[in-house]
Amino acid sequence: MDRIFLDNSATTPIDPEVLVAMTEVMAKNYGNPSSIHAEGRQARALIEQARKTVANTLNCSIGEIFFTSGGTEANNMALKNSVRDLGITRIISSPLEHHCVLHSLDAICESGNTAVEMVRIDARGNVDLIDLEQRLAASSEKTLVSLMHANNEIGNMLPLEKVAALCESAGALFHCDTVQTMGYFPIDLDTTRVNFLSGSAHKFYGPKGVGFVYINNDNIIKPYLNGGAQERNMRGGTENIYGIVGLAAALKMAVAEQEERAAKIRTLKEHFRSSLLEKYPSVTFNGDTENGHYKVLSVSFPESPKGDLLLMNLDLNGISASGGSACSSGIDVGSHVIAHLHPDSKRHTVRFSFSHHNTIAEVDYVVEKLEGML
Ligand SMILES: Cc1ncc(COP(=O)(O)O)c(C=O)c1O
Repeated sequence: MDRIFLDNSATTPIDPEVLVAMTEVMAKNYGNPSSIHAEGRQARALIEQARKTVANTLNCSIGEIFFTSGGTEANNMALKNSVRDLGITRIISSPLEHHCVLHSLDAICESGNTAVEMVRIDARGNVDLIDLEQRLAASSEKTLVSLMHANNEIGNMLPLEKVAALCESAGALFHCDTVQTMGYFPIDLDTTRVNFLSGSAHKFYGPKGVGFVYINNDNIIKPYLNGGAQERNMRGGTENIYGIVGLAAALKMAVAEQEERAAKIRTLKEHFRSSLLEKYPSVTFNGDTENGHYKVLSVSFPESPKGDLLLMNLDLNGISASGGSACSSGIDVGSHVIAHLHPDSKRHTVRFSFSHHNTIAEVDYVVEKLEGML
């Protein structure tokens, strides 16, 4: 059997059709999009077409989409520039955010007058909306709320519309890290008031190193990267044309096949979950399994001497998954998400994340192979 890739929250394999679209651009469209001659204009047209695809997907205006080097840059830009340019003095976020958000918040705290508060997280890993509402009401400072749409480790989903409405009625800005949900769930920015959101192509079968930030028209921030006038003066640097074309092609496919892919992945995940429980009744699942992203299953296995080597043994058996244990043994580097939810647990956590390319035979093989590793 070929290798079994169950780490699709970390990244996804590039779709063959996306690759074709990109290589064609690499081979033919070498113009600099800022040049005014024909080659330049062709390259510019490709970027603008891609921007239109992203804007149509999100039901926003094309002027609100800016291409970046990925989700990390998009989140850094939204957070740091809204503090710098929009007078934000208070940020409400959560301890379960991705490190690119948490470490940006650390940098913001260190360098200025902006205070960061963490919202309460309940036992299942969900944001406590009452606590959020109370925090919003407790201060009249200019506030930005930064909460992720789906957690990349445990899959918990934020009720996007509810949080957007809470922020709007409190007069707070809302940044949502949508890196794990872009292309997997419909997002309509015409009806959902989000000020900033982020996307990353490699999470939806596109290339690595390219993403975008949505910046609502009402929030005029200055560039994060200074340079030329690219991205309508918002991001200096010659554009990654084939990456941008690949991003748009991948997003278009992900949206067109969204329901079909989701149904397949849901079936796979449920089969894996019930097979695991049947064979290993002592396994537990992290996060809110009723309210989770359909592609992620975070599994905790009971403490055992072999547990520290679980990921390595899976890898040796051709199975790729990722860690997320509260303990840090050198092999399993630990996870701030699991550590927050289960601080004293000595169980061994593995995040399995699925794609529409996985099969029932693959997940059955994993369940079988685990026997000798626990
Ligand atoms: C929730 C979340 N935000 C942001 C990122 C960063 O995206 P990128 O890899 O494009 O920098 C990731 C990637 O792991 C993620 O899962």
